Amino acid sequence: MIAGNWKMNGLRSDALALARAVADGVKQAAWTDRQVLICPPATLVMAVADAVRGSALLVGGQDCHAKPSGAHTGDIAAEMLRDCGASHVIVGHSERRADHGESDALVRAKAEAAWRASLVPVICIGETLDEREAGDTLEVLATQLKGSIPPGATAWNTVVAYEPVWAIGTGKTPTTAEVAAAHGHIRKVLATLTSEAAGIRLLYGGSVKESNAAELLAAGDVDGALVGGASLKAPEFLAIAKAA
Ligand code: PGA
Repeated sequence: MIAGNWKMNGLRSDALALARAVADGVKQAAWTDRQVLICPPATLVMAVADAVRGSALLVGGQDCHAKPSGAHTGDIAAEMLRDCGASHVIVGHSERRADHGESDALVRAKAEAAWRASLVPVICIGETLDEREAGDTLEVLATQLKGSIPPGATAWNTVVAYEPVWAIGTGKTPTTAEVAAAHGHIRKVLATLTSEAAGIRLLYGGSVKESNAAELLAAGDVDGALVGGASLKAPEFLAIAKAA
């Protein structure tokens, strides 16, 4: 799976042109061995889903509330994303964990909300630079996984994204050996949580671009990428999907 996280970027005209260009590329490539997903801001999920309907391009949200409805001003339920044409939703992105104080328990509740609404959550975890430098990376990842993945995760209903916080938007990436070590560890910890660990897709995220995609995607236990900045340009994002 190659997933694009547009973050807080996109107004209608540009965003629809971008979505259509990606959908056209996906259509032409006619891949049968990979999924391509774009996650526009909530304001554009419906318009983007309408614009790409009929192509294999998937559309997701970037966050959801844990509850299906109620007095939660400004929040968006997983059911609402589903209603707009989304099939996936990113939960627990480090920017939400940092900017909105989201805990593992909340991320887990959001992943359960996604399931309730028949969405596939892309559950994000990742260590900060301080944690990496202190040698705590694997322990941090295990704690986040155990806290954020609800019981019942399967290869079909869950995607996990490993995104080192220090690699997001910085142009810095771990070495392929570091990525493989993290992903191998994540797979091992997942195996203590579900019998389907082998089939759950593990995406690497953090400064993935056309020039480093093939190398990062070839690292052990990497089943795809979660792409931020480089998902805002159709040719670059499609090149990453091609590298997969
Ligand atoms: P980046 O973001 O590709 O711009 O580093 C990745 C992400 O935050 O998902």
